[in-house]
Amino acid sequence: MIGIFDSGVGGLTVVKEIKKILPEAPILYFGDTARLPYGNKSRETIQKYSVEIIDFLRAKNCKTIVIACNSASALAADYVRKKNPDLKIYDVVSAGAEAVVDTTWNKKVAVIGTSATISSGVYKEKIAALDPEIEIFVKACPLFVPLVEEDWIVRPETKKVARVYLKELKLQKVDTLLLGCTHYPLLEKVIASVMGKRTKVIASGEKLAQKLKKEMLCFEKKEDMYYASDITEHFAKLARGILGKSVRIEKIELNKD
Ligand code: DGL
Repeated sequence: MIGIFDSGVGGLTVVKEIKKILPEAPILYFGDTARLPYGNKSRETIQKYSVEIIDFLRAKNCKTIVIACNSASALAADYVRKKNPDLKIYDVVSAGAEAVVDTTWNKKVAVIGTSATISSGVYKEKIAALDPEIEIFVKACPLFVPLVEEDWIVRPETKKVARVYLKELKLQKVDTLLLGCTHYPLLEKVIASVMGKRTKVIASGEKLAQKLKKEMLCFEKKEDMYYASDITEHFAKLARGILGKSVRIEKIELNKD
C-alpha cells in the first residue's frame, strides 16, 4: 500500500497524477482536514502532525509513504525520514525541484507556495543543489488556499489576487513556475493566464509519480482507501472535483489524548 498524506484535500491532486501513471497502485490517503491549514503553522507543529500521520499509515501496513503536502515536505520530510529509516518516504518538494530543473530552458524559475514552505527556503536549497546556475524567485501566496477551499476557482477576485501575487515573478521573465502547494493545481488556469504564454506552469505530482514508477516494481492488489480527520460535504465535493468520481471517505481521529 502507498500511504499518501496531506493537510487536507489538495493532496488528491498528487493521487490523481499517481493514478494516471500507476493505475494499479493501491493508495491509502489521509487528509488532515481537522487541523488544516498547515501552511501557517510552525515547524514543530508540522513535524508533530507528520509523525502522528506516519504512525497511522505504518499501522495500516504502508511501507511506502508520499508526503503530498508541500508544507509538511518542506518542514518535516527529513525529520520523519530519520525517525522511520525502514520506510521509503517520497516528498513533493524534492520531486518539484527535479521537475523545475527538467523544465527550465533559460534558468530563471519561480516557486510559489504557502508561507511555511516559502520561508523554509527548502525549494531554493534543493534546486540550487541540482543546478547552481538556476536563478530562483519565490513568493508566498497565502490567500490561494482559502480561495480554493471556498471554490472560488473561476472568479474575477481570484484573478485579481493572482495578479498581485505574481506581478514580481512576471517581471523577472521566469520561464518556469512551480506550483509549490497542493491546492494550487486547482488554480493552474488562472495562474497560467496571469503569467502568460512564455512561462510554463508545472506541478510536482507528475514527477513524483514517475519516480514511484521507476522504483516500485510490483503491487499487491488492494482497494484504495481514503481517510480524513474531519469530513464535511464541502470536503467530499472538492474530492469529487479533483478525482472526477466519488470516493468513500472514512473519518479517523489521530490524537485522541
Ligand atoms: N497542503 C498544503 C501545502 O501543500 C496547503 C494547505 C495548507 O496550508 O495546509 O502546502
